[in-house]
Amino acid sequence: CLAPEPATVLADVTVTITAGPTREALDPVRFISNHSSGKMGYALASAALMLGAKVNLISGPVTIKAPNGVNLINVESAIQMRDAALAYAPKSDIFIGCAAVADYRAAQVAEQKIKKQGDDMLVTMVKNPDIIAEVAALTKNRPYTVGFAAETQNVEQYAQGKLKNKKLDMICANDVSREGLGFNADHNALTLFWSDDSVELPVADKQALAMSVLHEITKQLDSEGR
Ligand code: CTP
Ligand code: CA
Repeated sequence: CLAPEPATVLADVTVTITAGPTREALDPVRFISNHSSGKMGYALASAALMLGAKVNLISGPVTIKAPNGVNLINVESAIQMRDAALAYAPKSDIFIGCAAVADYRAAQVAEQKIKKQGDDMLVTMVKNPDIIAEVAALTKNRPYTVGFAAETQNVEQYAQGKLKNKKLDMICANDVSREGLGFNADHNALTLFWSDDSVELPVADKQALAMSVLHEITKQLDSEGR
């Protein structure tokens, strides 16, 4: 049979992936963040490499090692991640937003360490830019844009809502209320949604799931003749 060699499926294709959490500083020694491990994004980067792609991995602070051969761009805040994403996205064929971007950042970052004061503390936060929505809104050199959605309820409804509102091509939804799956876990299960279709990827380790996600993306690109 004439099945292509795995390492050539994404030859000449550039994939940019965001991964991990972002850190939003409060002062020089403190930040607000989340529990994202970066595992799913790093698994996608490694799968894309195996398929022969050129991979830019824009990563928030994580403890895992980037696969050999990726172009690793380390960032901390959502603003830094946005700047890197907008620099690389127009040079990419596929953009996958796997990062758990902090939705808000402190309105003001204190220049000096904040001293303990009264019994309550109020921090005013402002909304961060929606990185993937900005990528999807590119009018020139817009990549095939894939988002992730971690939900604890109404998974399909919320995922479809994000697909539409952010004008994505595809979204990978996971139900993080399912025990042992999602954030920080080694296994996950995903439902992939397009505006007119969906595919269930049953529980598997993140590396196998990443490969399936990339195969689904490749099928779409092929059918669109890109
Ligand atoms: N995302 C992003 N920039 C943000 C927030 C989210 O690029 N400021 C991306 C994520 O990387 C993911 C997708 O948007 O690909 C969905 O993220 P999610 O947090 O589920 O969606 P939100 O729009 O932030 O909605 P909410 O957190 O209220 O569910
Ligand atoms: Ca969010």
